[in-house]
Amino acid sequence: MSGTILILGACGQIGTELTLKLRSMHGNERVVASDIREGGEELMSSGPFEILDATDANAMEEVVAFYEVEEIYLMAAMLSATAEKFPERAWNLNMTSLINVLQLAKEHKIDKVFWPSSIAVFGPNTPKERTPQHTIMEPSTVYGISKLAGERWCDYYHHKFGVDVRSLRYPGLLSWKTQPGGGTTDYAVEIFHNAVKGEPYECFLKADSALPMMYMDDAIRATIELMCADSDNLSVRSSYNLSAMSFTPEELALEIRKHRQDLEVVYAPDFRQQIADTWPASIDDSKAREDWGWKPAFGLEATVEVMLRELSR
Ligand SMILES: NC(=O)c1ccc[n+]([C@@H]2O[C@H](COP(=O)([O-])OP(=O)(O)OC[C@H]3O[C@@H](n4cnc5c(N)ncnc54)[C@H](O)[C@@H]3O)[C@@H](O)[C@H]2O)c1
Repeated sequence: MSGTILILGACGQIGTELTLKLRSMHGNERVVASDIREGGEELMSSGPFEILDATDANAMEEVVAFYEVEEIYLMAAMLSATAEKFPERAWNLNMTSLINVLQLAKEHKIDKVFWPSSIAVFGPNTPKERTPQHTIMEPSTVYGISKLAGERWCDYYHHKFGVDVRSLRYPGLLSWKTQPGGGTTDYAVEIFHNAVKGEPYECFLKADSALPMMYMDDAIRATIELMCADSDNLSVRSSYNLSAMSFTPEELALEIRKHRQDLEVVYAPDFRQQIADTWPASIDDSKAREDWGWKPAFGLEATVEVMLRELSR
C-alpha cells in the first residue's frame, strides 16, 4: 500500500482501537483518524486527525485527496438503541455515509472499503440458534433496517461496479478502552465498570437474554484479517457472519463473581429488551472460517479476566 488509511467515526468504541492497531502496523502518519468530535488522548496524540462529517461527500473527497487515501474504514453510525429514538437521523447517517464512501470507490478515488454490519440485520423470524449466513432477515429496528440495506448496497456496488468492499456482522463488543456508543449490548461493558467500583448494577436486559458477543481484540483482528484476505477467496460481499461466544447477563454476572464475589445485579428490562428479543442467540460463522480462516481467540472466561484486570488498573 503506497497511500494512507482513513477511519471515519474513529473516536467511537471500535474506531479508537482500530485506529491504534492500524497505526502500530502501518506507522502513525499513514492512518488518518476522523470524527465529528475529538477522541481520547492516545488517539489524538498518536497521529493525524481531521474533524470530518461522514455525511458530507465533498469534505470527505477533499480529505481523501489531501492524504492520498487508499482505504477507508467507515465506523461512523448511529447504534441500535439510540437509533430507535431518532429513526430519521439514524437512517440518514447510516445510509448517506455508506453511499458517499461507495461512490468514492466506484470513481476509483479509493481502492478498498471496510463497512461494519451487525447481528441486528436479523429479525424475529430468523432462526435464533446458530443463525446461518443466508437466512430470513426481516429486521424490526431502524438500525437493523439500515444495516440490511447497507449490506445490499455493498453487494450491489461490488457486483455492478467492481468495488472492493468488505464487511462483518459484528456481535455485541466488549472493550475497556472506550465506552460503548448506545447499543443493545452495552450492558455487557457497563457491568464491568460497576463490578470494579464495587457498585450494584441495574441491567436493562432480562437475566436469561442470550446474545452473541465478542471481545474487542478478536473483532479488530477479524477486521484486519478480512481486509488482508485475497479478494478471490471472498464469496460474501454483503457481510460475513462472525462469532466468538454467546452468553446471558446472568451467565456473565456468574463469571464476574468468580473474581468479584460481591457483585450485585438487579434486572430492570427497558425498551432495549424488545430489540434483544428479535436478535439471534448464537451465530454460525462457518463461511468466514472457510473463506479467510476466521478463528476467535477469546471466550467468556478469558474476556472476563482481561476486562477486570484492565479496568482495575
Ligand atoms: N460496538 C458494537 O457492539 C457494534 C456491534 C455491531 C456493529 N457495530 C457497528 O460498528 C460501527 C462502529 O460502532 P461503535 O460501537 O464504534 O460506535 P460508536 O457510537 O462508539 O462510535 C461511532 C462514532 O461515529 C461518530 N460519528 C457520529 N456521527 C458522525 C458523522 N456524521 N460523521 C463522522 N463521525 C460520526 C461518533 O462521534 C462516534 O465517535 C458502527 O457501524 C456500528 O453499527 C458496532
